Amino acid sequence: MFSELRKKSIQSYVVRPGRITPSQKRALCNETFDYGLFLKNGLIHLEKTFNNTHKTILEIGFGMGSSVAEMASNNPNENYIGIEVHAPGIGNLINLIHDLNLSNIRIYWADAIDVIDECIPDKSIDRFQVFFPDPWHKKKHNKRRLVTEKFLAKVSNKLKSGGIFHFVSDWKSYADSVIEIGENNDLFVNTALNGKFTDKPDYRPMTKFERRGIQLGHSIWEIILQKIEEVDKNE
Ligand SMILES: C[S@@+](CC[C@H](N)C(=O)[O-])C[C@H]1O[C@@H](n2cnc3c(N)ncnc32)[C@H](O)[C@@H]1O
Repeated sequence: MFSELRKKSIQSYVVRPGRITPSQKRALCNETFDYGLFLKNGLIHLEKTFNNTHKTILEIGFGMGSSVAEMASNNPNENYIGIEVHAPGIGNLINLIHDLNLSNIRIYWADAIDVIDECIPDKSIDRFQVFFPDPWHKKKHNKRRLVTEKFLAKVSNKLKSGGIFHFVSDWKSYADSVIEIGENNDLFVNTALNGKFTDKPDYRPMTKFERRGIQLGHSIWEIILQKIEEVDKNE
């Protein structure tokens, strides 16, 4: 599999050289790996990609991939698309897919913004998941946060009517900003009461960064926004 990262003036991530284990490296080099999806192939056809018409969940920034692999394993009748920029994480998820014998995950090694813009059909996704995104908590770095008003408008275009945007962070200021953006538009409703956070749903496993946040004494702020049903103007 190969990376399709493009240089941008503002990025929500930093590509760290990081350590990559021999088995993660092997997974990335394996030419026979056929779960990779690529920006260069443009818009995807979900039914042909997964060979079924199941619900599709798209997770941005899956890190080392254990939570998306666990969800895919627990829900064989759902399709999962993971997007990540971090090579060891991609290699690790490929190995998990093989170890768990999963056929319902596909992976992009690219910036999620490019994938959403170029590859995801409108009104095709049942749920977007952004779990513990890089917080960029210093004021001067806030502009690097992934979830902005513009980002949520893109997500809304790609969600089916009634689809879900699920966000969770251990940084209150980031979560507050997502509640504010999510509630102050006519695209989403907060499934908790306005201004409120929600409880962790059973389907979400604990993630590596959640564990790290809890160890640091942080609280967890969970948000589930639902895309507002679209009224068919032809009716
Ligand atoms: C703080 S980590 C959280 C990882 C995992 N979700 C967890 O909870 O353990 C955030 C991840 O998002 C990835 N990321 C940030 N911006 C991204 C983008 N635009 N497209 C794809 N991945 C991104 C980073 O590489 C990083 O692995």
